[in-house]
Amino acid sequence: MTAACSKASEHTLVMKNNCCLTGLGYYVPEKIMTNHDFALLMDTSDEWITTRTGIKQRHVCTHQACSDLAYQSSVLALKEASLTPRQLTHVIVATFTPDAFIPNAACLLLEKLGHRNIAALDINTACTGFIYGLELARGLCMLPGEANVLVVASEVLTSRVNFADRVTCVLFGDGAGAAVVSSSCHGAAGMSGRLVDVNLKADGALGELLTLKGGGSAHPLALGDTVTENFFVQMAGREVFKHAVRSMYNVSMEILERNNIRSGDIDLVVPHQANIRIIEALAKKMNLDPANLFVNVQKYGNTSAASVPIALAEAKETGRINPGDLVLLVAFGGGFTWGSALVQY
Ligand code: ACO
Repeated sequence: MTAACSKASEHTLVMKNNCCLTGLGYYVPEKIMTNHDFALLMDTSDEWITTRTGIKQRHVCTHQACSDLAYQSSVLALKEASLTPRQLTHVIVATFTPDAFIPNAACLLLEKLGHRNIAALDINTACTGFIYGLELARGLCMLPGEANVLVVASEVLTSRVNFADRVTCVLFGDGAGAAVVSSSCHGAAGMSGRLVDVNLKADGALGELLTLKGGGSAHPLALGDTVTENFFVQMAGREVFKHAVRSMYNVSMEILERNNIRSGDIDLVVPHQANIRIIEALAKKMNLDPANLFVNVQKYGNTSAASVPIALAEAKETGRINPGDLVLLVAFGGGFTWGSALVQY
């Protein structure tokens, strides 16, 4: 590449780095399961679940699948972005509970939106899926031409939770959150947020601490096989807890440092909603004012990849985000994967 060429492309990249969250939406299924409902089914109590996790209830699907939840949240995000589905250039669905292995959830969503002939892909980085999706969208927004990337995180966790395992089954809920990520902020109906930076990490060495193996090619099912525990989410809770706090802290501080921001400059932190104790431990380590922390785990439980976009959309809907606010998103999940993102409103 000549010097002139490389200068021009650098210029283009800088000029196009106006990537914006122009619309947000979230959706949870109607049916609610409270801690008291669990206490009727197994040896547990509202007191145990609330004290250990902060969760009071979660929404659960009775008949909807991943792409159904994704569709509902996408319609709301598109409305806020003032876009029709036909104006989308790419669809990314973050999930580890898709409707099926094939077709992927993004193709099913595309069909539900009445659109075709654009790229539609699923990604699986467990609970960090939405933040990984934002980084992919940011890259797509830097390509020549206008881009409107729909990034949806949708999970039907209750389809892969073992209701005979009281330690895990009380933690999870179903839901979806969506964002339209556009190559410019213009035209949206609501307040847009500029995607300033994204910081992603992974470490496969720790994968065994949180797994969902059954049905994968290393753990295939043959005709007539009965499902065993490995068909469901399994985790070493205490180990996951420690890594989640440490990793979310590190990835948050790193993104702040490289953007010359102090944690006190953040107006709102929207962390992955896995467990109130994880969130509080992170806030303490980061020296955050609890008033600058968004928490809704009590209503939805852990919705994995969907938890950050649901929380972000709800924070905006309830007036917790104002023009000029700097918002930090941070998540941690199986793999292990973890990541953070900065959004300037
Ligand atoms: N109701 C009542 N008692 C229970 C329940 C329950 N639902 N579950 C476990 N217990 C009991 C156990 O049997 C055990 O009893 P024992 O002492 O008589 O043996 C006792 O409670 C303690 O069990 P632990 O498993 O050691 O409980 P712990 O204090 O570690 O809490 C928990 C479990 C809540 C899962 C905790 O480890 C945790 O929060 N971990 C983080 C998990 C998480 O949030 N993961 C998701 C992050 S990544 C992602 O989102 C995919």
